[in-house]
Amino acid sequence: MKKAFLLLLPLLIFSCGGEKFSITLTSPKEAISVQLYENSESQLAYIMNFQGNPVLLESTLGLELREYGLLGKEMELLRVDSTRNTRPWNPLWGEDGIIIDDHKAYTFYFRSKKNDLLMNVHFKLFADGMGFKYEFPPQEGVDELIIDDEFSQFKLTGDHTAWWIPADYDSYEHLYKTTKVSEIDSSLVDSSLLAASTIMERHAVNTPLTMQTASGLHISIHEASLTNYSEMTLRVEDDKRTLTSSLVPSQLNGWKAKVNAPFSTPWRTVQVAEKAGGLIESKLIVNLNEPNKLENTDWIKPGKYIGIWWEMHLQTSSWDMASGKHGATTEKAKRYIDFAAKHGFDGVLVEGWNTGWERWIGFPDREGVFDFVTPYPDYNLEEVVAYGKQKGVEIIMHHETSAAPRTYEQQLDTAYALMQNLGIHAVKTGYVGPIIPEGEYHHGQWMVNHYRKVLSKAAQSEVMVFAHEPIKATGLRRTYPNMMAREGLRGSEFNSPWGGGNPPEHLTIVPFTRMLGGPIDYTPGLFKLNLNEYKEGAYVPTTLAHQLAEYVVVYSPVQMASDLIEHYEGEAAFQFIKDVPTDWDASKVLAAEIGEYIVMARLGKNEFDWYLGGLTDENARELKVSLDFLQNGAQYEAQIYKDAADADFETNQAAYEIEKRIVTKKDKLTLKMARGGGVAVRFKAL
Ligand code: NOJ
Ligand code: CA
Repeated sequence: MKKAFLLLLPLLIFSCGGEKFSITLTSPKEAISVQLYENSESQLAYIMNFQGNPVLLESTLGLELREYGLLGKEMELLRVDSTRNTRPWNPLWGEDGIIIDDHKAYTFYFRSKKNDLLMNVHFKLFADGMGFKYEFPPQEGVDELIIDDEFSQFKLTGDHTAWWIPADYDSYEHLYKTTKVSEIDSSLVDSSLLAASTIMERHAVNTPLTMQTASGLHISIHEASLTNYSEMTLRVEDDKRTLTSSLVPSQLNGWKAKVNAPFSTPWRTVQVAEKAGGLIESKLIVNLNEPNKLENTDWIKPGKYIGIWWEMHLQTSSWDMASGKHGATTEKAKRYIDFAAKHGFDGVLVEGWNTGWERWIGFPDREGVFDFVTPYPDYNLEEVVAYGKQKGVEIIMHHETSAAPRTYEQQLDTAYALMQNLGIHAVKTGYVGPIIPEGEYHHGQWMVNHYRKVLSKAAQSEVMVFAHEPIKATGLRRTYPNMMAREGLRGSEFNSPWGGGNPPEHLTIVPFTRMLGGPIDYTPGLFKLNLNEYKEGAYVPTTLAHQLAEYVVVYSPVQMASDLIEHYEGEAAFQFIKDVPTDWDASKVLAAEIGEYIVMARLGKNEFDWYLGGLTDENARELKVSLDFLQNGAQYEAQIYKDAADADFETNQAAYEIEKRIVTKKDKLTLKMARGGGVAVRFKAL
């Protein structure tokens, strides 16, 4: 069912011929309205309302182009088009089996009065937010365009509470800060553990930036479909109310982006929700991406994996050979394959299998060091892959580029041909360190294009990508459903004895910020939480039940059970990790306050079983949730994995209990969570 028709323009009030125009756009259900107009200074501006109340006050639009100067001022409006679209679509995998793309689209055709350059501005309004973008249509004599700046404003109605990470050009691996917008200040941030970090603007943040107003409205600003452009960060202006787009530069070239007309910028998005959970349930970001471009997708499969990974972070083994404690051996990989086969895991990740690790992190000259086809002598790649095949387990390839993308690009053909020949369908990529060449950043246009090149190369080679140190998620998984998951946040690796730990509140913020962009390769599932034997006093600051709940709350179509396999032996709670799906037909937020707690429920794909995950911050909590999401008339065995009465994230992390009871949708469940704790439930249909 597809509906698209032209709205009647008389709906819109505007005037041409010298007078200033002002046009009101509305979303389906009239929930969102946007007024686009030429302000008193002849500048394009807009105002955004939700349910009749202002969300954004007068905010101006514009770009600065090298040859054409400032665009956005003195623009002649030539025409306006609008369409109404309602289109359901089925993602290949995801949080929900069906997504409805219901929006009104408006295109404004402008010509600069100063230089005749044509520029279109697109708006799409949904019931829960909106997106806009700039387009340079094909036009005579216009080819290359150098973008020196973008001035898209978001003027807030007050000094909202914000959950933010700084506008770091090289890393998203920061803990979130909770402050008023006026207090956003990167000097509050500790970047000392990051292998690469470039923070140029003190009062600026990365997106998604999520805020709550004094009256309780939730707003999140992000971008969708980041393609051939630098990422957008947001600068807090001196008035402490206005956020302005600030693009990551190419210091090497002295521009923000260089493009060729015709060209469209990514969508700038504003999501609005009364309840915090509404931000998570929104489909706005994926709906602002192009439909799937891949024809054959049989090889794309959500799943679960284990890996030779955590031991490197615990420093009991190493990626490199020269250390004398090389972790990735043929023998160990086979042990992991045996374990995966026994417990129903789809894949085994093996890090440190290839040569080059002697000169990665910390070495300035990392060009030409990593080799993506040559294993270390104690790792027989062919033998391991063949052994896995026999047991129905696939090896997940690992490509740590050490942020030398040119070296990686030189080897893309051979590296991906090797995977294809071996029948490997997944690669985990990594970009640790400052980008080579100097002057380019992880989040600039040059790297955006590199990440895309890798993604499409992977698609051609029938390979799924799990990207670490990636560019942020902007919904591209819709267009390239082999883009399974990415890191792009402070992942579980920071729970290592040397990582500083992710405090319990971390994952009560991440779902409302980073997760709005898309799936996260967080690598949950640590069971040995007291790390004293690796470093005195070290521990993972969550309870074990919290680790289980992460599988439901932190969405990814590929989930790792990240601990050493010996730490799962004999643990009854491991059953939950074995049972929990990674692909869903429905997802709901049952209860949430950002930075305090979140409870989510998800229905397994083509299953009757529901799963629930609840997480709390450093405060213990008791929450009562209705089970009315369960199916009418059905009975379920609720298998409840919960914190023991004496569990605590600082002193007694591993204490959990399993309780079973029969429930129906008429029941309510009281969830008791310890400090830094959580709860995970499988509702097994009877
Ligand atoms: C950083 C990644 O996030 C981590 O998962 C990986 O083990 C190391 N890089 C090595 O590639
Ligand atoms: Ca990382």
